[in-house]
Amino acid sequence: MNELRVGLLGLGTIGTGVARILLEQQELIARRLGRRLRLVAAADRDLARDRGLDLAGVRLAEDAAAVVTADDVDLVVELIGGYEPARSFVMTALEHGKHVVTANKALIAKHGEELFPLAASRQLAIGFEASVGGGIPCLKALREGLAANAVESVYGILNGTCNYILTRMEREGTPFDDVLRDAQQLGYAEADPTFDIEGIDTAHKLSILAAMAFGARIRFDDVFTEGIDRITPSDIESTRELGYRIKLLGIAKPHGDSIEMRVHPTLVPMSSPLANVSDSYNAVMVSGDFVENTMYFGRGAGERPTASAVVADIMDIARVHPDGVRFLAPPMGFVEGERREMATMPMADVECEYYVRLMVRDEPGVIASVTSILADQRISLEAIIQKERHATRNVPVVMLTHETREGNLQAAMARITSLEAVEEDVLILRKEQFDA
Ligand code: HSE
Repeated sequence: MNELRVGLLGLGTIGTGVARILLEQQELIARRLGRRLRLVAAADRDLARDRGLDLAGVRLAEDAAAVVTADDVDLVVELIGGYEPARSFVMTALEHGKHVVTANKALIAKHGEELFPLAASRQLAIGFEASVGGGIPCLKALREGLAANAVESVYGILNGTCNYILTRMEREGTPFDDVLRDAQQLGYAEADPTFDIEGIDTAHKLSILAAMAFGARIRFDDVFTEGIDRITPSDIESTRELGYRIKLLGIAKPHGDSIEMRVHPTLVPMSSPLANVSDSYNAVMVSGDFVENTMYFGRGAGERPTASAVVADIMDIARVHPDGVRFLAPPMGFVEGERREMATMPMADVECEYYVRLMVRDEPGVIASVTSILADQRISLEAIIQKERHATRNVPVVMLTHETREGNLQAAMARITSLEAVEEDVLILRKEQFDA
């Protein structure tokens, strides 16, 4: 049985998981593939750390360059993460005729458009299943399983760290910082956890999903992004009383030649399947014109689930290496050159329902002033609730709106927060019903 020889860049959380699968699941993989995968080389700056692995047969190096150019490597697995030096190593690997598999969503979202043509021009494969949804084979489902459909919408809980934090804040009322520390210890968070918390990681993943769903070129910089750092346990409590749960969602929908792409904390009805995706689990909901709604669910982060997706990509490539790469679906699901530039819809034109939390002075006429500004912007309210008095003289007021243009809502909020009786600190959350 001839082998496919693998070189690994990065022996951190995911790299350790990939090495573990390649070493421990050899027999199963060989039975599925009809050939063996052999880990021949691995690079990491810290080789001293005990990873609980027997790496005796693996050539270890501190320098990634020794792996990406090695003659005895057929496929390079990039698990360093981040934009650089990961991009340079991947380019070098492709230039040296190696297939590439990566879990690096930042790399694909930011530099995919230069990597895909390079790989295609050299008849090389580039696999990135693990970049979205951790262990969930959602890209394969979208690229191949749903290939007969025009995609109508994509909704995703795409960040395990945020979902874990929101779940524990709701269940236990644990403060944000403590839960974040636990997520880091569990290996869910990015090296820079602000990428998780501020929604950037979700935006990376959403831009990949949207490009694949709609046959577009990736436009990561255009994704509207808001994180979860302003959500308090009291917001979670208020929304729960109204029948909603807060989830950090990535949402993409096509509108003719443009795409709506947004990442923000979102109120989802308790009855929605997305409301019941907890802890580090992720879910991706894709609607297609023939298939209707589909949903993919599983662990979105962590060593073993993410490594599972990485190795599945390696196995796909092993089935066609060296001569049959043309039998693989194109990496983004459309023939290179057939993906289009699609504009990103301005956020002001997006239509949503909103949850607005204000602090207002508890005196006559304040609510009337607020609602008259909303009426000027043709915003209709579904509910308005004044909560109990606080120790201060200001009281929280929560409003739910019917569907309205974001531009109108923002214009109204600018006027409302300039009222003397309203504090400037306002929380605006968007709401989705999933009844399309
Ligand atoms: N930091 C990411 C998350 C890892 O929390 O989902 C998986 O991409």
